[in-house]
Order: sequence, then C-alpha cells, then structure tokens
Amino acid sequence: MLILGIESSCDETAAAVVRDGREILSSVISSQIDIHRNWGGVVPEIASSEHLRQIDPIVKKAVADARISINEIDAIAVTQGPGLVGSLLVGVCYAKSLAYVLSKPLVGVNHIEGHVYSVNFENPAVEFPALALIVSGGHTNIFHIPEEGKYRVVSRTRDDAAGEAFDKVAKMLGLGYPGGPIIEKIAQQGDAKKINFPQAKISDGRPDLSFSGLKTAVARYLRENEIEPMPNAGEPSQEICDIAASFQAAVVKALVGRMERLAGELEPRTLIVAGGVACNLALRERAEELGRKVGIPTYFPSKHLATDNAAMIAAAGHAHFVNGERATLSMTADITLRLQNLENEDDQLRAKRVKYRL
Ligand code: KG4
Ligand code: ZN
Repeated sequence: MLILGIESSCDETAAAVVRDGREILSSVISSQIDIHRNWGGVVPEIASSEHLRQIDPIVKKAVADARISINEIDAIAVTQGPGLVGSLLVGVCYAKSLAYVLSKPLVGVNHIEGHVYSVNFENPAVEFPALALIVSGGHTNIFHIPEEGKYRVVSRTRDDAAGEAFDKVAKMLGLGYPGGPIIEKIAQQGDAKKINFPQAKISDGRPDLSFSGLKTAVARYLRENEIEPMPNAGEPSQEICDIAASFQAAVVKALVGRMERLAGELEPRTLIVAGGVACNLALRERAEELGRKVGIPTYFPSKHLATDNAAMIAAAGHAHFVNGERATLSMTADITLRLQNLENEDDQLRAKRVKYRL
C-alpha cells in the first residue's frame, strides 16, 4: 500500500512516498532554515509563502523519486496540526485538492504522532506498551502508549519545549539559529561538569518538565560572570563551550530522569525518543543507557527522520488509513490538535474535583 505524505507544519516543506508504513520510496525535504536564520527564528508569514512556492515541486519530486505514477498511490496523508496555521493550511489545501482531483482518500495526521512513527523506519517493530519522549522545537511530551494508536500524556513541559530552550540559549550565547546542533557541536569542546545548572522542581510532584528556569539560570550566569555573547562568526571561547556543555547536560538529565521515573512506574517494553532534539548524541547515549538499565530497547529515528519530514506523516497516516479512517474535504488545519486519546489518572481526578466544586 502506497501513501503519499505531505508535511508543512513549520519551516520544512516535505513530501514522501512510503510503502506499507515502513519502507521509504522517496522523502524530499525543503528546509527554510537559511531564510529564517536572518531573523533568528521562524517568521510565520515568510514560512507560509515559502510553503506555497515549494509544495507543488516538492510533491512532484517525491512522486518522481519514488519512480511511480501519482495514480498508483492509495491515499494521501497530510499534517493537520499542531503547527503554524498559515503553514499548515498550505499543506492541507494542497492535499485536499490533490485528493479531489485524483479521487484518492485523504487522512489527516497529528504532527506529534508523526514523530512517534518516525521510529518505524530502520528499527524493529515497536513492542507495546511503549514510553515515547517527543522532543522538538515546539513540543516536549512523554507519552504512555499501552497499545498502538492509544496515547496518554504522562509528562509535559510546563513552559518552553526542550528544542526552544536550546534555540534561546544559543541566541543568548550569540551562536545563531537553530541552536540545538550548534550547542551540541561546541559542547564537545566544553566541560559538562563545569557549571551545575539547577534542575526544575515541579511543586505538585507530577513528573512534568520545565526549561524556563534553566534558561534564566544561563542568563544569570552570563550576567554575573560578565560573559559576552560570541561575536559573529568568531571561535567560541572555552567559557562559552563550558556553558553549552553544562546546559546540554542539564536538559538531557531532566529528560532522561523523567523517562526513568516513568519507566519504573509504567514498565514499558520499548522506549522511543523522537523529534528534532533526538538528533542530539548526548541525549541518545543517556536514553540508550536507560534502556539497557531497564532491559528494553530504545528506538530513535535516524537524524534525517528526527527533524520534520513527510515519511513519518505517511507512516502515521498508513496506520489510520488501514483502520478505516478517512478525512472529508471539509477537514481543515487545527493548531490546537493534541495527541491524547486516553485520560491520565491525575486528569480524571482533577476533572472530578472541578465538577464537584461547580
Ligand atoms: O522536530 P523539529 O524539526 O521541528 C519541530 O517540530 O519543532 O525540531 C526542531 C528543533 C529545534 O529547536 C532544534 O534546535 C532542535 O530541534 N535540534 C536539536 C538538535 N538538532 C535539532 N537540539 C539539540 N541537539 C541537536 N543536535
Ligand atoms: Zn516536528
């Protein structure tokens, strides 16, 4: 079964053809990073007009690279949300038009679920229950997945996403955008034990995450030690490398620490780590270590499938398609889409309390 995946939720226009949810026939990604870099972050208006320019040639290239005719596809899967509304709309409108013209079924995909399915390639099949850490520029959540397609959020960030924290700290250090890969690179020359950045404490005891305090701690450290950001295109000083390494270690410790606590409680059979930040080698090593300690496999997407791509959207779309789900042409972009179809016990308790108070 061939699924054409289309992704345009943020700053990558992507299309891919995937067979049976696991075999990539083609995956084409046009990144706008070079354009947005000039502004130090994604500019939504520019992103949507770039998607508009790119989407048609990218989809055509994906079909050509797969060496198929577009009529051979069985369905079209498109990212419906969450993301930037103008960006999402380009992909959704294009996919709907294509589905209409070709008389092909259409499936709407949650972008975050796409990241979960990115491990379907190049890894053995996931055994459930699974525990999935999805860490990107926009999202940081840990999902308990008792069976395929069932999601319960068991940890979420209370403020910044982990990738966002990497990007903001990189900006403070004068390192450019996107921050994650640059911080990882210069952290290799730094001492991760040099600065003991604090771990956030969540006062209600839930296994949630928070990165804004860490970001403030880095800003305070820079101010108190009178460290200037790196000048444009200069070599980073040892001090900056040490800050990058210590910051990265603090983020990794927070993420893997939460995974460890939840793995102890939920006894999963597989650990999944996906999303842009899953490119980070320090995170991969610590998560793999955790998997070995618990005695279960840890699956990551390869680097080109960790950041936004359409192969993962096609894989998630395939699962929904074989379940018989179909979107109608009235489907539209939904920036509020959440990946949670199982309630968490704490949420149930809270809902009861609210009802009682009312
Ligand atoms: O999944 P993604 O491509 O887009 C979103 O859905 O957000 O993730 C992009 C994020 C950016 O914040 C980027 O800084 C981060 O992933 N990232 C990394 C690394 N590579 C990308 N963070 C840490 N280390 C990396 N090597
Ligand atoms: Zn993403």
